[in-house]
Amino acid sequence: MSLLAAIKGRRGANGFGFASTAEEVTDGLDLSAKTILITGVTSGLGREAARVLAARGAHVIGTGRTAENTRGVLARFGANVTAVACELSEPASVRQAAAEIASLGRPLDAVVFNAGIMGLPKLQRKHGYELQFFTNHMGHFMLMQGLMATLAADARVVVVSSTAHRGAPKGGIQFDNLSGERGYGAWSAYGQAKIANLLFAKELARRFEGTRRTANSLHPGVIITNLGRHLNPVMKFGFGVASVVMCKTVEQGAATECYLAVNPDAAGINGQYFDDCNIATPRADGTDAETARRLWEVSEEIAARFP
Ligand SMILES: NC(=O)c1ccc[n+]([C@@H]2O[C@H](COP(=O)([O-])OP(=O)(O)OC[C@H]3O[C@@H](n4cnc5c(N)ncnc54)[C@H](OP(=O)(O)O)[C@@H]3O)[C@@H](O)[C@H]2O)c1
Repeated sequence: MSLLAAIKGRRGANGFGFASTAEEVTDGLDLSAKTILITGVTSGLGREAARVLAARGAHVIGTGRTAENTRGVLARFGANVTAVACELSEPASVRQAAAEIASLGRPLDAVVFNAGIMGLPKLQRKHGYELQFFTNHMGHFMLMQGLMATLAADARVVVVSSTAHRGAPKGGIQFDNLSGERGYGAWSAYGQAKIANLLFAKELARRFEGTRRTANSLHPGVIITNLGRHLNPVMKFGFGVASVVMCKTVEQGAATECYLAVNPDAAGINGQYFDDCNIATPRADGTDAETARRLWEVSEEIAARFP
């Protein structure tokens, strides 16, 4: 058996692995009592997670940049869905989305922070901050702030990071360069945003200690989706090569987030990083408690600029 076939066939202690799909990790579950929020349901992994969790009976609250587009996607998954507009790079939209979700009066059993952008070739900013950091991390941080009181007592928060967090700058977060103006690289900025996802989950997990709530992060795998839309031809080639070698299907790519959101075996697991539906080891500074605490404080300061 080739090394690649061995990796793709590997299964972890819980019986799931590289090739597991979102349908498999939710097989036999009745989620009709659950309400699950997923960001970025208009494409890729978020759309597949929404489809499968709705099919298992959950009430899925899905967000997208526009209500119309999000409604159009979710309508295909039945009537037990709510579409909410949430443009993650616009704090006013994020605050509005949080208020709208809270007003539904449904405690959130799971929150899947899935939406994201990747590899902007040139520096782009919103409100003075590098766009990948602001969208992938700050957008979700502010959404979480607005939803803290809406979480169920045993809510699971699932943050979709990436193995690309390994490309983050040394130390993880360049706190003195969140605007990108002191140096910018497409992959290091994406890596920084993704290590921020990891550190955010870590600090949230610490804050959940002593409760039944949990927070974990994950790498979904390498999957051909619309995520590559911003890449230039050279970057597209590199990503394409990685995809050909290690590619998962979208159905497989959505498995780890669905596993963490609802599988009974994941109940009570807190503060971990997952890959292929099993606990994995991230880059060391991705678990640094001091960096995680500092990122939380800096994020609170940034968020306070947008009341
Ligand atoms: N695919 C991979 O190989 C891979 C690998 C590692 C990690 N990931 C992570 O997995 C997650 C899902 O990615 P994917 O592959 O499914 O990508 P995708 O197909 O591009 O889907 C991304 C989703 O995020 C939404 N989104 C993007 N920018 C947004 C913004 N400013 N405000 C609100 N929503 C926004 C998109 O909305 P629109 O449809 O409106 O653009 C879309 O629904 C991301 O966090 C990504 O970093 C993916």
